[in-house]
Formats: sequence, C-alpha cells, structure tokens
Amino acid sequence: MSEPPKEDLQAPETAGAAPVAARGNGAAGAAGTSPDGGNGSAGKPVINPSVAGAPEPPQRHLGESGLNLKPSGRVHVAVSTAPSAHAIEPQAALEPPVFSCRDVNVYYHGKQALKNVSIDVARRQVLAMIGPSGCGKSTFLRCLNRMNDTIPGARVTGSITLDGSDIHDERRDVVQLRARVGMVFQKPNPFPKSIYDNVAYGPRIHGLARSRAHLDDIVCTSLTRAGLWDEVKDRLGSPGTGLSGGQQQRLCIARTIAVQPEVILMDEPCSALDPVATARIEDLIDELRESYAIVIVTHSMQQAARVSQRTAYFHLGELIEIGDTDRVFTNPRHRLTEDYITGRFG
Ligand SMILES: Nc1ncnc2c1ncn2[C@@H]1O[C@H](COP(=O)(O)OP(=O)(O)OP(=O)(O)O)[C@@H](O)[C@H]1O
Ligand SMILES: [Mg+2]
Repeated sequence: MSEPPKEDLQAPETAGAAPVAARGNGAAGAAGTSPDGGNGSAGKPVINPSVAGAPEPPQRHLGESGLNLKPSGRVHVAVSTAPSAHAIEPQAALEPPVFSCRDVNVYYHGKQALKNVSIDVARRQVLAMIGPSGCGKSTFLRCLNRMNDTIPGARVTGSITLDGSDIHDERRDVVQLRARVGMVFQKPNPFPKSIYDNVAYGPRIHGLARSRAHLDDIVCTSLTRAGLWDEVKDRLGSPGTGLSGGQQQRLCIARTIAVQPEVILMDEPCSALDPVATARIEDLIDELRESYAIVIVTHSMQQAARVSQRTAYFHLGELIEIGDTDRVFTNPRHRLTEDYITGRFG
C-alpha cells in the first residue's frame, strides 16, 4: 500500500462527533482542541503548523448506527453516501493534558519506526491506539515512560512533556518517571515473589509507606482497586506466579497503581486472556479511568470501542487519525482508517 499523502495526516478535529454506544464516553465530547484532537492546554484549537491550511482529507461518512458494539459481534460499518455534517466538534476548556507529545520520531539503528507523531493524552480518559502490526503502537507507548531508552539502538527525537515538564530533561529521574507512568504488558509478568510483595515492591523502593500498617493498607487498597482482593486476601503470602493469567494481569495492575501513577500504559493487556478475564480487565479499565489517564494498545476494535474515549490510528509509523472513539469508528476521516476498521486491511 502506498504511503498516505502527508497533508492527510493528523487532521485537526473539525467534523461532528457522533455520540454512540461506546461505554464510558462521559468525557469524550469534551475532547478535541489540540492538534491531535485532544484537550489541548489552551482550550482552543491549536493547529499543527505542518497541517495548517491543509485541505480536509476526503471523507466518507459512516452511519452512526453502523458500528456493532455487541460483545460477540464483529465490527460492522455501514458506508453511507450521505454528506457528513461539518459541524465544529465541541470544544471545552479542560485542564491541560497530562502528556503533550510533538513531532516524536523513533529510530531503531537509524531506521525510522515512528514519524512526527503529535498526540495529547488527556486526564481521566482512555486513549486507544490501534493499527496493523508493526505500525509503531508499542514504540509510541514506550516513548511515554522512556522504555525505549532500554532498547539498544533506539533513538527518540521530538518533544514529550508530562505535566508540562520535558521527560527527556537530563535532570529527570527515570525511575520516578516510570512510577508516575506505569506500564502493564501483554503477558502478565508478576515478580517471583508473594502476592503481597508484588504489590508492596514499588511502595517499598519509592519509600511510600510510613509503617507496616500503612504498607498493608496500600497493598489492600491496590488489590481492591484492581478487583483482586477478594480472590487473594487469604493467600497473600502465596506466589504471584501461582495465580491464573487473568488474576496475574490484575496483580500487575495492582502493582502498577500501588505507586500512585498518573498514567497507566497498557500494551495489549488482554491478548493472553480468555473472554471472562478480558471482561474483568475492561471493567477495571473503566473504573480506573476515573483516577488515571490510560493509554491502551489493542488489536481488538471492539475493545477499543468499549473502553476508550479517544482512538488513534497508526499506519507505517505515522499517526493517521485521532479523535473521539465514537467518531473515529463511525465517521473515519481517512481512507486508511476506514479500511482498517472495516476489515479491508490488517
Ligand atoms: N527493538 C527493536 N529493534 C529494531 N526494530 C524494532 C524494535 N522494536 C520495534 N521495531 C520496529 O519498529 C516498528 C514498529 O514496531 P512496534 O513494535 O512499535 O509495532 P506495533 O504497532 O506495536 O506492532 P504489534 O501490533 O505487532 O505489536 C516495526 O517495524 C518493528 O520491526
Ligand atoms: Mg506492539
């Protein structure tokens, strides 16, 4: 497939949002003021200079009711020939984004894997990142807590600020950064320690607990919030690796939230789980977003539609489109997004 024309990329949000059935979209309508459609800091549109003045990409309007969000259903999108409503997307003066990323490039041994990606990550919202294998989703996710630093040959350029501060500042403590920006991986990876010690590990190394009783409280609260307490409260001394896959993933989430992060990054957190365990994690994500910003990579479009308020579509290292999840799935602006979500590609 040929590379999409540059001016079609990262189009600012201007078309009408179509609130539909995706779960937890309470904050969705409030997004959409930054170059990427996020809730930009000034509360008014900021057009990326690289696309300012660029024509709107050709649109094909997809019916609002076209997306089948039933858990068992495949994504069905009905293509309509009706002209799309060119209403300005609702904009609200929200608090500044937790992450602001501008022109982020990533190279592995000189080969470019991510190209000029600009995204804001809003607080108390789930941002889903979708796209074909190899398009750069994990690479971008790893930029946010500098996990790419650990990959030999990886180089990151561009600007990434967390709460307005450059995460690449040489004075930045990367261990602290990774506590503030926790990560949950595709495969649950509990430490070879007890359930208790898995959750207590972070608070211990970051000195968050004033006393043993306080640490007990942090462990209990974290496991409760991760929806695991009732299942493990009688065996906190047992190995975390002895839990089921879904329980292990909830343990990893408990471990992540025990250090009170601001952002939780999740890279395909349910891909190793069965549908029941997946549903539990999705419910958990929905609860956690009341407190945290969550960025989730998923290959499941149903999952993206169910759990996220905003969706970003990547293709060959470029951010093709980002916006309210409802809008992206019902009225994608870019042909590449439409092809992907309708199953014609990827
Ligand atoms: N450690 C690495 N060394 C070299 N190249 C890498 C490395 N990690 C990723 N890449 C390359 O960067 C590009 C983006 O990879 P990335 O893993 O971010 O894709 P992805 O969208 O997460 O894919 P998937 O859906 O398969 O997980 C790919 O071309 C990949 O081969
Ligand atoms: Mg990946």
